[in-house]
Amino acid sequence: MTESCALSRAAADTSALEAMRQIGRVLRRGRSLSRFASGEPVSLDLLRLHGVPVDALTAVGLADVVGDSAQLQVRIERWGSALVVVAPNDGHGAYAGADSLWLATEAMRWGLPGDRVLDIGAGGGAALALLAPRFPRAIASDISLAGLAVARLTAAVDGRFRIATVVSDLASTVPDRSIDSVIANPPWVPAALADLDVAGRSGGVHGIELPLRFLAEITRVLAPSGRSVLLTIDPTISGGARPLVDAVRKLQCVGYEVEVRPTRANVLFADAIRRLVEGSPSISDMRHVVVRLAAPARRSVTFTADGLDLVPADVLPATAAPPRHRHRPDPAVVEGPAPYTSYSAPTPSKRRRS
Ligand SMILES: C[S@@+](CC[C@H](N)C(=O)[O-])C[C@H]1O[C@@H](n2cnc3c(N)ncnc32)[C@H](O)[C@@H]1O
Repeated sequence: MTESCALSRAAADTSALEAMRQIGRVLRRGRSLSRFASGEPVSLDLLRLHGVPVDALTAVGLADVVGDSAQLQVRIERWGSALVVVAPNDGHGAYAGADSLWLATEAMRWGLPGDRVLDIGAGGGAALALLAPRFPRAIASDISLAGLAVARLTAAVDGRFRIATVVSDLASTVPDRSIDSVIANPPWVPAALADLDVAGRSGGVHGIELPLRFLAEITRVLAPSGRSVLLTIDPTISGGARPLVDAVRKLQCVGYEVEVRPTRANVLFADAIRRLVEGSPSISDMRHVVVRLAAPARRSVTFTADGLDLVPADVLPATAAPPRHRHRPDPAVVEGPAPYTSYSAPTPSKRRRS
């Protein structure tokens, strides 16, 4: 099984990335390598026939060779027009699930503007792979190195977009107001019920604390008139408090357009959501929601990164003002692979912010 450091090694290895690119090209041409992509052993001859450098894959643990067959240690799935790498253990942060698809679908429906798209907590990059070909610049940030490694493998195998990966808490090295479009799908399971062996599952005590930090980070990095789509929960805390609703009101007060709607997770995951509420004495209700947010064309306030104190910085006394983010732009931004050169790159989106 491919472990997290093997994934990171693979994503940093140009030969392995090129091998993944070649597999992607063959998959886009037809079904010849679809068994290999789904993790079944196939003959070395078949791989050689299609120009796949198996040694480059075995050297970094992306494939195993037994006798005259080779087996890929990750899966490559078709998600619409995207090719997505799925790691065997998403506990390392390389998440890809039904909600990844919902996130991208919500973003496409609403329409995201500009040239730069950022996924905060990008995991394995599945949601980003569905959107990134529309943008000249796609950035994946995540606290998990293994997640970003899979995102880089996804970009290589998909071959239609460039990706920059940023290892950070939230997107702390991304400059203020620099991003046109942001998507995010942070963990939201209440801490007491999250499987703490699985990195990144807990959303904080009530499950909403981490998503609120993501929301504050979105407002920090969004350019004026930028847009964001966030999947999260709207819990009602025993006693009636609605932390997401409170945060949304604060944002609306300073000029953000914000819309919150239930997602179909409420129907599909009804049992799971009910069990989470029953298992959390301090939560009386919970809905899974999509938050659509549009930044005002002019912005005069910055929010703290602590989502529970989603307070306009300019109403805080000077001594209590939160530390400003210091930006160290490029060293932390690792450029992803260039797209396959003979692939005709999609026309960059010319849509502009209104
Ligand atoms: C449910 S996954 C979403 C992945 C991807 N956005 C998608 O929808 O397919 C949540 C991701 O958030 C990341 N994450 C958790 N805490 C984070 C933090 N403090 N900063 C950045 N990323 C974080 C996890 O590592 C995980 O990859």
